[in-house]
Amino acid sequence: MKFIVNGRRPLEGSVDVSGAKNAVLPVMAAAMLTSDEVVLEDAPDLLDVTTMCRVLEAMGGRTVRSGHTLRIRVPAVEDIEAPYDLITKMRASIVIMGPVLRRAGRVRIPPPGGCAIGSRPINWHLKGLEALGARISLDHGYLDARAERLRGARIYLDFPSVGATENIMMAAVCAEGTTVLENAAQEPEIVDLANFLNEMGGKIRGAGTNVVHIEGVRSLHGATHSIIPDRVEAGSFILMAAACGGDVLVRNVIPAHLHPLLAKLEEMGTPFCEKDDGIRVRGNGLFRAVDVKTQVHPGFPTDLQAQMLALLTRARGTSVITETVFENRFMHVDELRRMGADISVAGRCATVRGRESLSAAQVTASDLRAGAALILAALTAEGPSEIRNIYHIDRGYEGIELKLRGLGADIRRESRTETIASGLTERGKNLCLLPR
Ligand code: UD1
Repeated sequence: MKFIVNGRRPLEGSVDVSGAKNAVLPVMAAAMLTSDEVVLEDAPDLLDVTTMCRVLEAMGGRTVRSGHTLRIRVPAVEDIEAPYDLITKMRASIVIMGPVLRRAGRVRIPPPGGCAIGSRPINWHLKGLEALGARISLDHGYLDARAERLRGARIYLDFPSVGATENIMMAAVCAEGTTVLENAAQEPEIVDLANFLNEMGGKIRGAGTNVVHIEGVRSLHGATHSIIPDRVEAGSFILMAAACGGDVLVRNVIPAHLHPLLAKLEEMGTPFCEKDDGIRVRGNGLFRAVDVKTQVHPGFPTDLQAQMLALLTRARGTSVITETVFENRFMHVDELRRMGADISVAGRCATVRGRESLSAAQVTASDLRAGAALILAALTAEGPSEIRNIYHIDRGYEGIELKLRGLGADIRRESRTETIASGLTERGKNLCLLPR
C-alpha cells in the first residue's frame, strides 16, 4: 500500500487533531489495574490502538469501540503471558508489564527488541520494577516478572524515560507505601496517565515535574477519561502548513504542548498565531534555516525531528539538527536525498543545506515519523511522489490522507480497500472542514 502525492499546492482550511497515540496506549494498559469498566473518550482510531486492544484481549480483557469512544473491561487476567507477535510488533506494549504484574502477581513478556530508530533497551523499566520488589528473570526468550506484593521505593531513573516512568507509576499506584520517582519523564502524556490513575482512585502528585510521588492505594476503580490531543500530529500539520504555504487552522490542540515547536517557527519567520481552538499558520512557503536539538520535554520533541528536517530542506540557509534521544533516527535522510535534498549526517548531527525545491520521487517510510516527513516533502515537490510502507504512518496518524485532502492536498492511498485499510470509515471525512 502506498500514498501518491502531487505536491506544490497551498493548504487551506482547518483540520482537527485526534487523541494522542502516546497517551492512549499507557492509559489502555492502566485499564488492566481494575475489574471495572473504563471508558476512554477521544481515543484515536489507529493501528497501534488496535494492536493494544489485541494485547489486552489476549490477556483476558474485552474492548469495544464506538466512534472515538473505547470501552475496556478486564474482569480477570486470564493469561499472564503477553503474545509474542503483538509485543514484538509494537514496542509501546511493554507498558502492560507494570499493571499486569500488580494485578496478577506475575507477567511474562518477550523483550520488545530494537527498531529502525535504535536498539531501545528496557533496562530502566526493569530496574524500577525490581526496586518495587519484582523478581525478574529471562526464561526461554520471555521476561518473567513475579511479585506477590509490591512495596513503595525511592527510584532514580538514569534518564527520564517516558515508558519507564509510565510502567513504574502503574506498578506503584497500588503498592504498599509511597514511591518517589526521581528524574522522571515530564511529557504531557505522563500527566495524562497520572490524571487517569487519579480518576481511578490513585494518589499521584508531581506528574509533569521531574519528581513524582505515588502514594499506594489498596485498589482502583473504573473511570471515564478524555485523551489529550496528539501534539505530534498537531505539530506535523503545523509543519506541513509552513512547508506548503496557505492558511491552516490546526484545531483541538493544547498550545502549551507545542511551545518548543512554535519557538522554532518564530525563529524561522513563519507567521502563526494561537487561537482559542488551535494554532493558525499563514505561511508563504518561505522561511529561514534554524538549528534544532531534540531533547526530552519541554525540549524539542524527537517525534517531530524528521518532519522538521524535511521542512528545513527548503529553508534559506543551512540548519544543523542534533538528535539526542535516539541513536539512529536519521533513516529518513536517504529518502529525502532521493528527492534532491542536500543533507549530510555525522553521528547524531545532520547538516541540512536548504534548496529552493525538491523533486518528486519514489520513497519508502522506515518508521512512523519518517513517513510523515516524506509526506511533508512530497507535498512541496513538483510532480507525483510515491510513498511506500505506509503501514508505519497508519500506526500513528488517523486518516492522514483524508485530513490532508480536506486542506486541499492532492494525496491518495493506492489500494482498493482505501478506507478500511487505514482503520477509518467515511466518518473520518468529518474530521476536516472544506477549504475556506
Ligand atoms: C516514548 C514515545 C516515543 C518517543 C519517546 C521519546 C510512546 C509510546 N512512545 O517512547 O514516541 O519518541 O518516548 O520522547 O510513548 N532507554 C534505555 N533504557 C530504557 C528505556 C529507554 O536506554 O529502559 C533509551 C531509549 O533507547 C531511548 C531513550 O532512552 O534512546 C528514550 O526512550 P524512552 O523515553 O523510554 O522512549 P519510549 O518510552 O520508548
